[in-house]
Amino acid sequence: MLQPTPDALLALLTRLARGEAVAADECAELLGIAVADLDDLMGVLVDYGVRRRRDGGLRIPGGLSLLDAGRIGALLAAELAAPPAVDVLGVVGSTNDIARAHIESGRTEARSILAEAQTAGRGRRGRSWSSPVAANIYVSHVDAIGGGLDDARGLSLVAGVAVAEAIDAATGVDVQLKWPNDLLVGERKLGGILVELILAGAGNAYGVLGIGINVRVPAHVGAAIDQPFIDLTEAVGSSIDRNALAAGVIVHLHRYAAAFRSRGFDEELQRRWQARDPFRDRRVVARSEQGELRGFARGIDASGALIIETSAGRVTVGAGDVSLRLEEGA
Ligand code: ATP
Ligand code: BTN
Repeated sequence: MLQPTPDALLALLTRLARGEAVAADECAELLGIAVADLDDLMGVLVDYGVRRRRDGGLRIPGGLSLLDAGRIGALLAAELAAPPAVDVLGVVGSTNDIARAHIESGRTEARSILAEAQTAGRGRRGRSWSSPVAANIYVSHVDAIGGGLDDARGLSLVAGVAVAEAIDAATGVDVQLKWPNDLLVGERKLGGILVELILAGAGNAYGVLGIGINVRVPAHVGAAIDQPFIDLTEAVGSSIDRNALAAGVIVHLHRYAAAFRSRGFDEELQRRWQARDPFRDRRVVARSEQGELRGFARGIDASGALIIETSAGRVTVGAGDVSLRLEEGA
């Protein structure tokens, strides 16, 4: 199937966002293709609600809601006394890399970086994160940890609590947290969290909380994701306001980052994480390069490590390179 570049697709969707018809030659020019090739692209464009008109032009009936810095800023200002800076970008490599570059160049104030698409979205261990144009939420929230790297234990779990509660508040969807960093609905992956730590200046650590949330994964993109996944449109059964969702996620991340800075991964934060742990007391297998560990998941300890009760006793597992799965039939 012919595929437009993410930049060309975003340019076209931006032109069509207001719901007006746009002539075929202008659409083809925005896509960088010949008018005759528009037909070949319709397989991709229909996933964005684009329809071909009898005169050959294109239209998105009802329009398309793109990320809007003004709206997100207004929603944040209504909720937070001192909101973080917000950058809304188009097509980027990875929002986490942009966040890192901010800190490394001395711009360390709290900031949320959103993009419409990523061409090098990352999961853990260098896996790729599918980040199609104008479809989902990709945000990296930067904030100070309030100490050094050793004080960051539990941060990625706290980010999970923040995002799960934000989605729950915005949509009513009961989001579960699979240790260490997955957002699940049922047993399908709704999103993921990639926390990276950066040391800047006098030993101060900064956290980059990178969040991907599936809002409406285009069918042709979903076909290439190699594990069970879900998006919020399916989970809720109606369309989702990405700007309201993004603002809610940022508000929660900002508040939870402040709580973490002042209290660390305290009992209250641990309790909130445990309340969304679907694997608790179920048979699991933790796989890493060191091999496999089997037993019952018994929640987390005060450092955010997973507790597994094996036949040889209790073992704690740090996030590192570990991948957790339910045992067949558990
Ligand atoms: P782990 O249990 O170790 O967290 P994981 O398989 O979920 O394992 P991650 O590194 O957390 O691995 O996430 C990357 C994986 O997520 C990819 O290999 C792919 O299978 C899946 N994936 C990629 N993009 C998406 C997406 N938009 N929605 C859901 N899943 C995705
Ligand atoms: C995972 O499940 O392994 C984590 C996926 C994290 C994806 C988000 S999208 C925004 C930010 N930028 C990235 O490159 N990754 C994170």
